[in-house]
Amino acid sequence: MLMLGRAQVREVLEDADEEVLRAVREAYLCHQQGLTAVPHSVFLRFPDDDRNRIIALPAYLGGEDPVAGVKWIASFPANIETDLPRANAVMILNSVRTGEPEALVEAATISARRTAASAALAAATLAAGTPDTGVTLFGCGVINGEVLRFLRTTLPGLTAVTVFDLDAGRARSFAEASAARYPTLTVEVAESAAAALRAHRLVSLATTAGTPHLDAAYCPPGTLVLHLSLRDLSPATVLASTNIVDDADHVCRASTSLHLAEQEVGHRDFVTASLGSLLSGAPYRRPDDGLTVFSPFGLGILDLAVARLVRRRAADQGVGTTLADF
Ligand SMILES: NC(=O)c1ccc[n+]([C@@H]2O[C@H](COP(=O)([O-])OP(=O)(O)OC[C@H]3O[C@@H](n4cnc5c(N)ncnc54)[C@H](O)[C@@H]3O)[C@@H](O)[C@H]2O)c1
Repeated sequence: MLMLGRAQVREVLEDADEEVLRAVREAYLCHQQGLTAVPHSVFLRFPDDDRNRIIALPAYLGGEDPVAGVKWIASFPANIETDLPRANAVMILNSVRTGEPEALVEAATISARRTAASAALAAATLAAGTPDTGVTLFGCGVINGEVLRFLRTTLPGLTAVTVFDLDAGRARSFAEASAARYPTLTVEVAESAAAALRAHRLVSLATTAGTPHLDAAYCPPGTLVLHLSLRDLSPATVLASTNIVDDADHVCRASTSLHLAEQEVGHRDFVTASLGSLLSGAPYRRPDDGLTVFSPFGLGILDLAVARLVRRRAADQGVGTTLADF
């Protein structure tokens, strides 16, 4: 059994952004080809507590180097008030030949990077006629920090970033840290949610909102919203948009905005396409009018794809602890 802790995972993923993007892309293509098994994730919730949860995501990712396993990820949003991360996660990778557990890997970084890589891949795949040069990061936490990291690779023309957070202090420190890390970017803090949504035609939503609080009124025509937190947009906005998903069966669950929209109209015809189908088809251009919304539920195969990469790089670099008699 190979065990990898948080610092070790971060160490082996250093300078691996292109490989992470490739791994995520290949996982979507495998899913599109039917080479995966992705049972619905299981949500553990607690009595009299509608904020905290722990989710299990079991999955199998086939193809040339098949891998199976599970991510167990806790979300405790109030953690950030005491400088603890909201999300804590661990993954187990099993042998697809014998079922034996082979690796135990800290997975908060893997989870954040695969989420951000999928968002950045979507931003490039759902390109506008005029390339995006600016992005609004709505919610200034770990996920949008990672989204910015990967957008710099998939949208090389990116020059302007506008950030917004309910907590103005977090928005300010996120802006300062991003400007220091990426000196070529201009980073501004928006004064209001409306100003943030008006600023650019690319918006990444990564808040911890539990119920819808935004509609599209402030977004310029042709805007792409990367709806990573899944519960921000009103069902009316979803119903009026071009909707791209990772997997409709997964994302129309757990009170996401798409789930609420489906409950309202009694069907899912508002889902236009999956990212996997667009990745395997002809180049796509998003409509110049209206709103395009990418809603990824976050499939366990993405975690497996990145965890497999982590395991491979750890073996190459001699990183990690091996426990012989697990
Ligand atoms: N779809 C996926 O695959 C996927 C994967 C991982 C995380 N997520 C989601 O991404 C979201 C962000 O995760 P994180 O780790 O960055 O969390 P975080 O706690 O680090 O940051 C969230 C930020 O959002 C801000 N916020 C909360 N409500 C807001 C609102 N209404 N308007 C503006 N800002 C608001 C908070 O102040 C905080 O700064 C979570 O909802 C998480 O569940 C989705």
